[in-house]
Amino acid sequence: MKKESRILCKSLEGKIMSADEAAALIDSGENVGMSGFTGSGYPKAVPLALANRIEKAHEDGEKFRIGVWTGASTAPELDGALAKVDGVEMRLPYQSDPVCRKRINAGEMEYLDIHLSHVAQFVWFGFLGKLDVALIEVTGILEDGRLIPSSSVGNNKTWLDRADKVILEVNSWQNPHLEGMHDIYYGTHLPPDRMPIPIISPHDRIGEPYLRCDPAKVIAVVETHSPDRNSGFSPPDANSRLIAGHILEFFEHEVKKGRLPKNLLPLQSGVGNIANSVMEGLNKGPFDNLIAYTEVLQDGMLEMIHSGKMISASATAFSLSDAALVALHDNLDEFRHKIILRPQEISNHPEVIRRLGIIAMNGMIEADIYGNVNSTHVMGTSIMNGIGGSGDFARNAYISIFMTPSQAKNGQISCIVPMASHVDHTEHDVQVIVTEQGLADLRGLSPNQRAKVIIENCAHPDFKPALRDYHNRAYKQSFGKHTPHLLDEALSWHQRYLNTGRM
Ligand code: COA
Repeated sequence: MKKESRILCKSLEGKIMSADEAAALIDSGENVGMSGFTGSGYPKAVPLALANRIEKAHEDGEKFRIGVWTGASTAPELDGALAKVDGVEMRLPYQSDPVCRKRINAGEMEYLDIHLSHVAQFVWFGFLGKLDVALIEVTGILEDGRLIPSSSVGNNKTWLDRADKVILEVNSWQNPHLEGMHDIYYGTHLPPDRMPIPIISPHDRIGEPYLRCDPAKVIAVVETHSPDRNSGFSPPDANSRLIAGHILEFFEHEVKKGRLPKNLLPLQSGVGNIANSVMEGLNKGPFDNLIAYTEVLQDGMLEMIHSGKMISASATAFSLSDAALVALHDNLDEFRHKIILRPQEISNHPEVIRRLGIIAMNGMIEADIYGNVNSTHVMGTSIMNGIGGSGDFARNAYISIFMTPSQAKNGQISCIVPMASHVDHTEHDVQVIVTEQGLADLRGLSPNQRAKVIIENCAHPDFKPALRDYHNRAYKQSFGKHTPHLLDEALSWHQRYLNTGRM
């Protein structure tokens, strides 16, 4: 690609315009498939221009709202800006923006929280309605109209394939050396003709480095120069270190038992501070030649690649702090050959996850004493972020681990509860639960056996007596003894916190 221009397709030169002009081409009521995955590769100018347009329309008494579909979460310039002006009718498949969250929990915005690997198929078959516009950030446009993807792939392939109109943001801030890092799969992927996804090893490349795009569908090209914006990570605190330590000890035990190879199996690591801390722990741990087959590549994994602990990583997006972003850009030539970015239906594909035997490690809000996990809802009714890819990985992993500090909100709430107030991952999809208190290996255990191990190994000492008491009484009084519950009491556990400020 020539340095001076990133738009090499002659037929698109006439489509270059300002963000305001491009935003004017999006109509109220349209569904817009935007690029973006955890603060990487999201369009940085048109959503802001659109938010201004929506605000003016609302001031003039005109209703203007759109459907916002993305890869996953984005950043304040997209989710925050559009939510602030009340411009979103339906948001899917994942968000983590505070303004968006507030509107959703206030009942002012519809939100559809979907397994990330499902989105492409749902869109192909029209389950979600019609996709009108694709708004995609790219690193550059080739002579023939193919696109050099940016720092995330997410659902971009699907948006470009399915939308009637395409708006491209060409971001010259994105490093041109990203070219060649992506692997976009165009194989037969829909039933009834779906073929096996030919990934046998996590670093297999099965597609093309570019996104295909019909130039005739492109209605606007907007040039930008804006950085990705991801939130930074807090340095690992005592709890995260303890959680990481328990997981490392568990891995060592599994290697000794011959249930894991010495370099473990491909790792998936979820979003958040704890997941990032576990990666930092692994970087200092005894395992070498690690491999990742994951959804997002956070700081900890990048450090492992840099240190040589990890030999390759496959993901759909970067999710890096500012400091790690600088490290990535400064060493992109080194990282380029060790990192593959794929569409999210491939990074999170159940078939591939099962074949590779992934070790899945995800954060959670709470787990109940039988191993059901809530990843999404605080107090059962308020959404935090969404299920993201945790279900894609947890259900299909070789070992599925969920982790959390044992208490939240300064020790007021136990993250181990009698009955999860919302269930994202059932007891059948959860093999290991870890808190700073310890690790519960649930494999091969019945519900009552699991309850004992979870309470004794994972609950905070302040909450153990209440949980033991609950399980004992439930065992005695419950009609069914297989998964004993005192339903009124289990369901009021959270209500008691709301009433008294503690439970
Ligand atoms: N009750 C009430 N609030 C709780 C809670 C509980 N049991 N557990 C956590 N919280 C709150 C925390 O207090 C914090 O709130 P704050 O932002 O107001 O301080 C918030 O939830 C996040 O908790 P934190 O301890 O910082 O965890 P995290 O950064 O590791 O994130 C999840 C944890 C569950 C929110 C996060 O992992 C997530 O969104 N997971 C679902 C998606 C996913 O797993 N994606 C990965 C797939 S690849």
